[in-house]
Formats: sequence, structure tokens, C-alpha cells
Amino acid sequence: MPATIESVKLTEENTLVILDQTLLPNELVYRTLRTKEDVWQAIVALQVRGAPAIGIAAAYGAYVELARYSYDSISDFRQTFATIKDYLASSRPTAVNLAWALERLEKVVSQPWNGAEAALQAVRGEAEAIRTEDACVCEAIGRHALTLLNNQAGILTHCNAGGIATAKYGTALAPLFLGKEQGYDFHVYADETRPLLQGARLTAWELQQAQIDVTLICDNMASIVMQQGKVDAVIVGCDRVAANGDTANKIGTSGLAILANYYGIPFYVCAPTSTIDVTCQTGADIEIEERAGSEITEAWYEKPMAPAGVKTYNPAFDVTDHTLISAIITEHGIIRPAYKEAIAAHVHVG
Ligand code: MRU
Repeated sequence: MPATIESVKLTEENTLVILDQTLLPNELVYRTLRTKEDVWQAIVALQVRGAPAIGIAAAYGAYVELARYSYDSISDFRQTFATIKDYLASSRPTAVNLAWALERLEKVVSQPWNGAEAALQAVRGEAEAIRTEDACVCEAIGRHALTLLNNQAGILTHCNAGGIATAKYGTALAPLFLGKEQGYDFHVYADETRPLLQGARLTAWELQQAQIDVTLICDNMASIVMQQGKVDAVIVGCDRVAANGDTANKIGTSGLAILANYYGIPFYVCAPTSTIDVTCQTGADIEIEERAGSEITEAWYEKPMAPAGVKTYNPAFDVTDHTLISAIITEHGIIRPAYKEAIAAHVHVG
């Protein structure tokens, strides 16, 4: 599969370098993050974004912060880690990959290390493993998801679940990159994805780079595009999947699923198993991030886009009911309803 551009990397100097996704597609700027505050801020500002990528950034971020100090004892090291973990976990609530990655590090930190330096190097190794595993996971998702798509299919996607949202390849975009390599000729409709335009700025850009046929539409055009028979499948990424298959993803996803169902179009969710959270019984248990209203009223234009003082409501994600999802694709294969039983068996197998 063609490698996509790297969005998160650790340097020899123990700093974290991220591609600033807020500046795309106009500028390709990498930023160096040196402290936990830098990493927290970059995640909150969506300079690094996408569920797997923020998990990787948090894991590297914890290592970068830990590497700044010397420690009197292993318990001193563990205490510092606990503070960093809580702090970074507070940056964004919906994507479970963030907490999942930090919990992986916590398991490593709690092992019986012979001194803080050994523990620090083990944290580095685990953070690296989280990144390299994610690339393999995305590649496998791409292979499984491609079996669901026909050559020349019209495909609609929302937000950005591409290479820059992961270690490599992406989740929902992985089958498109893989299909391109194998000679498939997909016609992709990218929802612009208001308010922050991840579809327009990032998905359209990534697909163009890969020379995949992409047409940008505003979010409110999805219905007509489906009605006109231009869409054979909808494929999206996700931020958290509950035990019953309810799925949180970028705001607007659940509306697309309702539309797809109405028009009889399959609706697919690409989900690394790191995004499945069986501690959430249903989507009602998933915390939905609410972001500043200024993203609706001010972002992306030089002048305000709404009257001063107007009330806003800006949930960043919504939950798609499992009954609207045709299949969930993980690195291990394709999960079909009944989701509760299938997810339990699948996560166990994984
Ligand atoms: O707010 P964002 O841009 O981080 O939202 C990202 C999404 O909703 C993606 O679809 C999801 O994280 C999957 S990325 C492989």
C-alpha cells in the first residue's frame, strides 16, 4: 500500500514532531513538541487529530515529558507518570485510543523495573510499538474493507480517517489507497465536515495526493448525491465503539447513516480494536466532546460568520445507532450484526 505522509514522529532528541493539521492543505508545517503542555495543547487544538494519531501522540508525549527529569526512585518515576497520564488523558474525551494508549504505558510502568532508566526505555519501546502496530492494523483494515467495495464504486466518506489521522494508511481511507494500487477506479465523495472542514482540508487533499478521483461536497449535499445513485457505499472511521456496536464518530456521521439506510446504501465503519470500548455498554455511555462555539462563528474566515453574541451548540461527535451500521471492519476482519455477540467474540479473539 502506498505510504501516506507521517503525522507523528519521535526524534533522537526526545521531542515529538507533529504535522500541524490545522494548516493543511495550504501549508505543510511540522511542529516540535517538548513538554506535556505542548502535547496537550496540540491535541486540544487538533494540530494532531484522528483517534489513532492522538493515542500515538499521547504515548510519545508521555515519554517525552518523562525523559525531561531525573528520578530518585522507581516510585518517583511512577508518580510522575501518573500525573502525566491524567493530564494528557484530559485533552479530549471521546476517542478512546487516547486513554487506551496511556493505559498500555501504565501497565509497562507498573512492572518491577530495576530503576527509572529501565522503565523510561520500556515506555519509549511501548510508545514505538503503539505506532508501528497501528500501521499494521490500518493496513489490515484496508485489506478487509476492500473486499466490501466494487471497482468503480461511488463512495462517500465523512471527516478524515486517512493516513494523517493514524500511524499510516488511515482506516476508512485505507481500502481506497489499497484499491488504487490494485487498479480500482473509485469515485469518492468527501463531505466537507463542518465546522472544522476535515473532509475538505484533509480527506480531499490526501485523496488528491494519491490521485484518487475525489469530489468535495458540503455536508448538506449528501442526501441528493445518494438519491441520484452516485453512492454505492458509505465508509467512515470512528472514535469509540460501544459493546453493542453503537459508534461515535465526527458530528454528522449519524445523519449520514440514517440517509444511507433510507436509500438502501451499505454503511461501513472502520474500527481498529483499540477503538472498541466494551466498558461502554451502549453509545449513551460515550462522552461527547463539546467545543467552542467560535469554531462555528469565526473559524476559517477573516470576518465573523454569524452575528456577535449568537448562541451556539458545537458537539464534535455523534453516535450512530448500531442498527444503521452494515458492518464494522477491524484489523481482524468484518463484524456483522448481531454486534453485541460478534464484538464480544471478536475482541476476545483479538
Ligand atoms: O475531531 P477529529 O478531527 O479528531 O475527529 C476525527 C474523526 O472523527 C475520525 O473519523 C476518527 O477519529 C477516526 S480517524 C482514523
